[in-house]
Amino acid sequence: MSTRPQSERGIRDWDWKLPVCRALIGAFTDRDLVEEVLSRNKDSEMAGRVLDSLRKWRTHRPTGRDAKEFLEGLVGKLGCNEDTVTGAMLIDAPIDRFIGYLPPERQQDARDVVGDLRSNEPSSSPLSRVPSNGIRVLDGDLKPIWVHTTGPVESVATGLRAGKIDQRHYYLDPGSANEWSALVRAEAYPTYDHCKVALQTLVDSEPWNRSVTSARPSTAVMLTGGGAPTKDRVLLRSLLSQPYIPHRIHYYIVDISVYMLLDSMLWLEQQSGTIDGFEKVNLEGIWADVLKMTGRLKVPLHQNGNVIFGVTGGTIGNVSEATFFNSLNRASENGDLLILSADTIDGLPSATAQRTLIGKYNHPDFRRWIRPVVKAVLNEAGSTESIDQVLDRVKITLRPAGETHASDVTRSQSIILTLEIAGKQIILLTSTRYESDQLVSYAANFGWHRVHEVASPLNVQYKQFLFRRERVGI
Ligand SMILES: C[S@@+](CC[C@H](N)C(=O)[O-])C[C@H]1O[C@@H](n2cnc3c(N)ncnc32)[C@H](O)[C@@H]1O
Repeated sequence: MSTRPQSERGIRDWDWKLPVCRALIGAFTDRDLVEEVLSRNKDSEMAGRVLDSLRKWRTHRPTGRDAKEFLEGLVGKLGCNEDTVTGAMLIDAPIDRFIGYLPPERQQDARDVVGDLRSNEPSSSPLSRVPSNGIRVLDGDLKPIWVHTTGPVESVATGLRAGKIDQRHYYLDPGSANEWSALVRAEAYPTYDHCKVALQTLVDSEPWNRSVTSARPSTAVMLTGGGAPTKDRVLLRSLLSQPYIPHRIHYYIVDISVYMLLDSMLWLEQQSGTIDGFEKVNLEGIWADVLKMTGRLKVPLHQNGNVIFGVTGGTIGNVSEATFFNSLNRASENGDLLILSADTIDGLPSATAQRTLIGKYNHPDFRRWIRPVVKAVLNEAGSTESIDQVLDRVKITLRPAGETHASDVTRSQSIILTLEIAGKQIILLTSTRYESDQLVSYAANFGWHRVHEVASPLNVQYKQFLFRRERVGI
């Protein structure tokens, strides 16, 4: 990253300016950036067009009305003096002058991002901004992380013997938060944006407003919640705008990876200025395994009445649904709400499902993401085979529930990533896709009844479900 070929035609130093803009404006992905900048204009088609062209601006000069509106919005969002700085100036300036156009209090942050990029340090994660000589105290305030002890994570060695690697390992490495940010920004892996935009659609809906107005939750608990801070922001903005909301909101992020947890908490603190009313929010982390929650969590979480639980990003598809709902029911009460995101195969012909789902995992960005875990598996197995060769022979298949133990929900299909080592098939990862009605009936067995369901405007297969717990079932 230290020397960058420049094109005379594209935006100068775009590979530096783009991460600076994301960091200063509080965007996790490029779509977040476009949406934050165009916030006054809620036209999602226009956002899509700007997003497509933004990715080409390294080599192509921005043209047209959409680009002009975006660049003008960018000048304002960056806090530049709109009387003296224009979109064209942002395009043409070399990075140092670009930083000079920013308000003085933002220039050091921008220099830090560029410094990290120049030294090849990943700057995508707020964790990389924490000085190594101590804990960074944000806004003079320390944020608690509670520990809900739920036993050790199964080691890679045990997983290798059992033939299945515990999916939590993908997030337990110190680099995981950065690797996750890189994956969600990859064009080939648009799920993060599909989910976030669907969440926005859900919280903009009438059934959502009716449900929260009647349950009046002022506590939200995001299960497996690390690594999705702009989804947290969508939910926080929606809750904070509810007229019933008291003077405090309790917002918990629950995650097994302290790296993912800290990354989200630091990001939200750093970007708190982008959330009106954030001073009302008690942001706390809980280090716990969401599959092993106990009744000890129930009382503290319900101190202020009903709770909204969330499990977004399709993570339900990586775990046993039965184990998840049993665990959730130990920590929840009747009247609580649940936002659950899942990728579906509703109405999808099986050939299309095969092609699109396998294609999503069969690309270099995804292989880069699984690399540290595959490397650990190879070390444990004592293999000397090169990691790149091994990654190339990871098998990706789509299999019906019933043929595998990946899902407890009837008629679902699971992507299974397997690797053969010394003649033995090791399951590296499973990710399940559902038929909506089957998932909804399955949740009802545990007392969770569907209140509403929305498809992502970016991908109709990707859905957000809103449930309310009405009785404890089976
Ligand atoms: C796919 S990532 C991020 C999902 C994110 N909430 C979203 O909406 O995009 C999954 C997250 O779940 C966490 N996780 C996975 N299994 C978990 C478990 N059993 N208990 C708690 N956290 C878990 C990982 O550490 C990681 O931060």
